[in-house]
Amino acid sequence: MLIAPSLLSCDFSIFGEEIARVDRAGADWMHLDIMDGHFVPNLTFGAPIIKKLRKYTEKPFDVHLMISEPHKYIGDFADAGADIISFHVECDSDIDKTLSLIEERGVKPALAVKPGTPVDAVLPYLDRLYMVLVMTVEPGFGGQSFMADMMPKVEMLRKEIAARKLGTLIEVDGGIAKDTIAAAAKAGVDICVAGTAVFGAPDAKAAIEELKALCESL
Ligand code: DX5
Ligand code: ZN
Repeated sequence: MLIAPSLLSCDFSIFGEEIARVDRAGADWMHLDIMDGHFVPNLTFGAPIIKKLRKYTEKPFDVHLMISEPHKYIGDFADAGADIISFHVECDSDIDKTLSLIEERGVKPALAVKPGTPVDAVLPYLDRLYMVLVMTVEPGFGGQSFMADMMPKVEMLRKEIAARKLGTLIEVDGGIAKDTIAAAAKAGVDICVAGTAVFGAPDAKAAIEELKALCESL
């Protein structure tokens, strides 16, 4: 299991140092949550901040766009150093065109689905996707409870990816903790985003190691 700490729960006054800290603690990817106050009822930060953060780690930047019109900002996030860009299938942009913009920049494209959206919504695009992000909370805020009833979506995706002989990764985001990560692993998840479980822990390294160990012992 790969662990992508969500920087949404870090100390933003020392953002760069927080990235370096979770890098040393064994984070596989850095999950960066971008919110526009429109697609979700919260605001975070944008591409200029990501650009400044790029020097603090060589680990992949997993950029999760919770914004209404992602197509307008793909160039900015690519320039800033995003390795993976996820945007929501529920957004107002044309999905095919937005995927093309990401592909043209050599960035890995991913589609995210909110809890209320059936996973069928991403299937027409599956062959082009590096990853599918299945939300396990309503997007917008850290610290919410894991929705175990999203696991059938993961299982269905796993089967479809195998049937089509694709290498598409599956990520879940929201409420991942010691008591929930095994359910995600059993369902076939490749990457778990974890905000509170990493940044709320006294020792980030121990927290990441424990989350990984809980998946290995299944
Ligand atoms: C929620 C964000 C998540 C969030 C996860 O909209 O996409 O990445 O920070 O936080 P935890 O792990 O605390 O649920
Ligand atoms: Zn996220």
